[in-house]
Amino acid sequence: MLRWAPSNFNALEKQRIAVLASGSGSNAEEILRHFEGSALAEVVWVGCNRPEEQAGVYGRTRALGLETTPIQADQLKDGTVLKMLRLARADWVVLAGFLLRIPVEMVRDFQGSMINIHPSLLPLFGGKGMYGMHVHNAVKNSGDLETGITIHFVNEHYDEGAVIFQAKTQLKVSDSPEDIAQKIHILEYEYFPKLIEKTILKDGN
Ligand code: GRF
Repeated sequence: MLRWAPSNFNALEKQRIAVLASGSGSNAEEILRHFEGSALAEVVWVGCNRPEEQAGVYGRTRALGLETTPIQADQLKDGTVLKMLRLARADWVVLAGFLLRIPVEMVRDFQGSMINIHPSLLPLFGGKGMYGMHVHNAVKNSGDLETGITIHFVNEHYDEGAVIFQAKTQLKVSDSPEDIAQKIHILEYEYFPKLIEKTILKDGN
């Protein structure tokens, strides 16, 4: 939630964003770049549940001056990650291709300030097991000629939190699941950072 500076300053205290990612981290990179030099918010912490050899996010954030913190699935469950987020004084948590389930205590702590991106038009192709290429394969197999992204708040049920924003892209019959993934990434890069910013601003109004 937003913390406001004393009224005589009439300025918003810079918001602190934590990002959780599991893989390549291209969305995390876009978010970092977007908020570089922003007066509104900054990315202060990035965590990843895979080791550096398996996840590009470490290299991407390092190139931008921020070390990604490795985390274990157990640390998510036993509250250690929540402690890390508190230590980082995170106001917002952004899930950018993060594949592990968020424990209910963490969801409650960041109610209304935890944002996820899902690579389909929820409720289509959402829920358990629907992540990454599984989604794009399912879209391909459905024969749908339209798909998109959903940016939403995280609640206690997978992919069911309030929708903040959706954007669509058209598919060709000949598009492979990899082509679909590429079209989705284009939408993600265009909208995710902007929508995080809008959501933070809206919260402060
Ligand atoms: C994104 O398409 C995200 O929507 C999905 O996983 C992908 C992560 O890509 N859930 P990256 O790690 O941000 O490059």
